[in-house]
Amino acid sequence: MRARFSELLAEAAVREGAVGAFTCYNLETAIGALRAAEERGRGTILLVSKQSFAAAGGDLLLRALVAAADTAPTPACVQLDHVSDPGTIERAFALGAGAVMADGSKLPLQENVRLVRAAGALGQVEAELGGIEGDEDVAAAVAGGALTDPAEAAALVDEASVACLAVSIGNVHGLYAAPPSLDWPLLEAIRDRVELPLSLHGASGLPDEDVRRAISLGVRKVNVNTEFREAYLSVSEEWLDRVRAGARVLELNQAQIAGIADVAGRKLDVLG
Ligand code: 13P
Repeated sequence: MRARFSELLAEAAVREGAVGAFTCYNLETAIGALRAAEERGRGTILLVSKQSFAAAGGDLLLRALVAAADTAPTPACVQLDHVSDPGTIERAFALGAGAVMADGSKLPLQENVRLVRAAGALGQVEAELGGIEGDEDVAAAVAGGALTDPAEAAALVDEASVACLAVSIGNVHGLYAAPPSLDWPLLEAIRDRVELPLSLHGASGLPDEDVRRAISLGVRKVNVNTEFREAYLSVSEEWLDRVRAGARVLELNQAQIAGIADVAGRKLDVLG
């Protein structure tokens, strides 16, 4: 069933956990994520990356995920991830996205506020302050970017209507160039200044202990992508030879769904 983005965050707060947000590239990845959520009676967020949305079939992908969320037995919502173009944000909401991540992290604070306000007039918004490094669709080893400034975070959420704030505390998209070392005092300082659910991007490659600690400090949404893509490719590689005889694509798809459900399930178990 389709749920509001803010409801999923509120539910996560009640159980002192976090909602899993998984980047989906096709129906197999979405069905896998929803299956894991259903098995655990959890809500979930299906993410569409900016590049997927811009690619051929991007509109259809978003609409297909909305349909998947609508028919899921557990609450689910679709979010367009990391966009800063107002036209793209408008298109995503018109197609049924429940939220967008209006990413003004590269902008000066006041322009970031303006972007978030404009997006917030159309629907629910996650904002970002500081810079979470790394490409969302191509995994490469990167170092952490600019950290979130707690005072700026407080100013942004004061001036714009925000459902959730993405923090940069040493987390990156893709692969960690060095063993991850998250800035816990900074996360605490942000939590103390901002009475909002926080989100942690770049959960692939983070030790479970770090994810649990982040949740204990106010993180209510955890984004996972790279580990999904890796699982999808590993399962596909393993199954390609097996299904070649008879061109049994359906079996390949089912194996991909099972592989994704497995990774999503393991993440959801950490999210409390
Ligand atoms: P990872 O690819 O590192 O899991 O990051 C996903 C993410 O944060 C999407 O916004």
